[in-house]
Amino acid sequence: MGRITIENLDKSYANRRRIPRREEDPLLRQGDYVAVLKGIDLTIADGEMVCFLGPSGCGKSTLLRIIAGFEAPSGGRVRINGKGVKGPSADHIFVFQHSGLFPWMTVAENVGLGLRHLKNQRDRSAQINEFIEMVELEGFEQHYPRQLSGGMQRRAELARALAVNPDILIMDEPFSGLDFLTHMKMREEVVNMHAFIRKTILVVTHNIDDALIMGDRIVILGDSPTRVIMNRQLAFPRPRNFEKSADLSRLRSELYLMLGVNYAV
Ligand SMILES: Nc1ncnc2c1ncn2[C@@H]1O[C@H](COP(=O)(O)OP(=O)(O)OP(=O)(O)O)[C@@H](O)[C@H]1O
Ligand SMILES: [Mg+2]
Repeated sequence: MGRITIENLDKSYANRRRIPRREEDPLLRQGDYVAVLKGIDLTIADGEMVCFLGPSGCGKSTLLRIIAGFEAPSGGRVRINGKGVKGPSADHIFVFQHSGLFPWMTVAENVGLGLRHLKNQRDRSAQINEFIEMVELEGFEQHYPRQLSGGMQRRAELARALAVNPDILIMDEPFSGLDFLTHMKMREEVVNMHAFIRKTILVVTHNIDDALIMGDRIVILGDSPTRVIMNRQLAFPRPRNFEKSADLSRLRSELYLMLGVNYAV
């Protein structure tokens, strides 16, 4: 189960070196602290894929780090399946990272890390191969990460995440730095994988199209201190296609405007 409840979440960072400006809103800056997140309330259902959008520096990564238990909130709380988050939990949450593979292990060994509970070697190998096939890396099982392209490394990391089988998968800008075609393929893979495993997935992206194609829901965070400025369920059928759905295109234009771009390019 991967139900997440976020209640009145605040996060401030100490900022001792910052020189106060006279015109500054005193609520933004209290003593030596700068508020990054302010009064965030969100409920995420088990199995939902939620895409977070928002301007750079608004606190998206901070929010995900708090959900993952890497950082403590300054106020409010996060609960996963009703239980307060006290610290990182490898059993429930997997954080998808760039270069998250162990460089001294082959692709198969990296993917196998999540399958250590399978004691039978044959079952384990079969599962490893299944996940490697899912991300189309057959033939590269014995390669080390350095012998793979950037996109292939990202796919291997995805296979590793799938093998861990977490309740919640957290992806902070998972496609950044990928070439256009690899980006599209990876996105499709994540959508297909989500349809298949139905786990809770949180994705931070700067790409409005990614959010619209992938998300069961879009959450837009506003400027600092960040609040939720839009929280919308996306009921569009899948596979989603901007050319075939006028409603989807309309929402896309709306989001571009909301995020400060005059038209969708
Ligand atoms: N450990 C920290 N100490 C102090 N300030 C921090 C720390 N981590 C983040 N911040 C500040 O919190 C704010 C939000 O940072 P965060 O990384 O969450 O933004 P973001 O929305 O993920 O941005 P981007 O889209 O550029 O990745 C920034 O102003 C940043 O300077
Ligand atoms: Mg970030």
